[in-house]
Amino acid sequence: MKTEPITHLSTPYDWLDRSLDSIHKANWYRFTQTITSKAGTIATVDGREMLMFASNNYLDLAGDRRLIDAAIAATEMYGTGSTGSRLVTGHLALHEELETAIADLKNTEAALVFSSGYLANLGAIAAIVGARDLILGDEYNHSCLKKGGLLSGAIAIDYQHLNLADLSVKLQQERSKYRRCLITTDSVFSMDGDLAPLREIMDLANQHDCMVLVDEAHGTGVFGDRGGGLTNALDIQQDLIQVGTLSKALGSLGGYVAGSAKLIDFLRNRAATWIYTTGLSPADTGAAIAAINIVKSENTIRQRLWENVGFFKQCLQSIGMQAIAFDSPIIAIEVGDITQTLQMAKHLREHGIFAPAIRPPTVPTPRIRLTLMASHTLEQIQFLMQCIEAC
Ligand SMILES: Cc1ncc(COP(=O)(O)O)c(C=O)c1O
Repeated sequence: MKTEPITHLSTPYDWLDRSLDSIHKANWYRFTQTITSKAGTIATVDGREMLMFASNNYLDLAGDRRLIDAAIAATEMYGTGSTGSRLVTGHLALHEELETAIADLKNTEAALVFSSGYLANLGAIAAIVGARDLILGDEYNHSCLKKGGLLSGAIAIDYQHLNLADLSVKLQQERSKYRRCLITTDSVFSMDGDLAPLREIMDLANQHDCMVLVDEAHGTGVFGDRGGGLTNALDIQQDLIQVGTLSKALGSLGGYVAGSAKLIDFLRNRAATWIYTTGLSPADTGAAIAAINIVKSENTIRQRLWENVGFFKQCLQSIGMQAIAFDSPIIAIEVGDITQTLQMAKHLREHGIFAPAIRPPTVPTPRIRLTLMASHTLEQIQFLMQCIEAC
């Protein structure tokens, strides 16, 4: 019998078209813009020079000669890759040097370096808590804290953003049902720029026998006399788990967990995102060490950053505009619905300002997320203001 060839009218991947369609319809479609210049306040974006008001390079260290030289020196000495996982062939003396430098910066007994801040949070959370445990997290925590919770298998409950009363009620209602409890929070919220009430969170944690994990991704290098982050600026001495990234103010790549020697020893044995992945590259490691030396010793860069934040705040308020917060170099302004926010981002882009609209699902409400750098000049900030005002 002759059989007809089977013709498939559909493929198993057709759902991709439908999903992309709905992303477009919701105005949630994202795309990349190509940068062809060195990190700094001016960037060549898709072939055009623009003023950078969107990067996390708060201290402008990503283009700093000293970091570049350190990355080159580390590459010359160790090569381009670390060749294996840290527990096999990938553990370099340079990693130890970086971990010692981080522990000193954060004033902790020890630190452990991961390949990114995202992986540091995933690995730490999934190792620290499990199915019999509870995570109470700020509802606006970064994606990696939330995904770490999912990966851990613990019951994860959000408390309202910065709302200590809600956290307290949830602790009273839920804590006793679980073995361990981990409270998680960003120190500086990446899309709002506001700060977690860390001292009060620590008090609640002590009352309810909870561990605390603070993500200092946007606090490291920016807060504290030596750039140790918000925990250091608030002089929090109690035991806690500090996570952060080397990729923002420190201008490199990689993440870390800092805390007690016992915690770090445990993570070396249990954090899957540290054990089963290649060690950080020599270039990133060398650059991060150079960055930490700079942030510890050069308070003037941080002062310039805070002067710029103060100046921008004054300018915005002088035209009656508010931001979600002026507590950090992240200044988010809400200008209406998605369409209006996209229009403003377009207007800024047309005037040579790089400051994207951030939309759901990343954030609950659309906003323009502006970030200031220590090296922005007053003229650059004034130009940004003119463009905002014209809009
Ligand atoms: C609060 C927060 N935590 C963690 C991360 C992840 O850090 P990394 O870029 O090093 O993976 C980010 C980066 O976007 C962040 O904003």
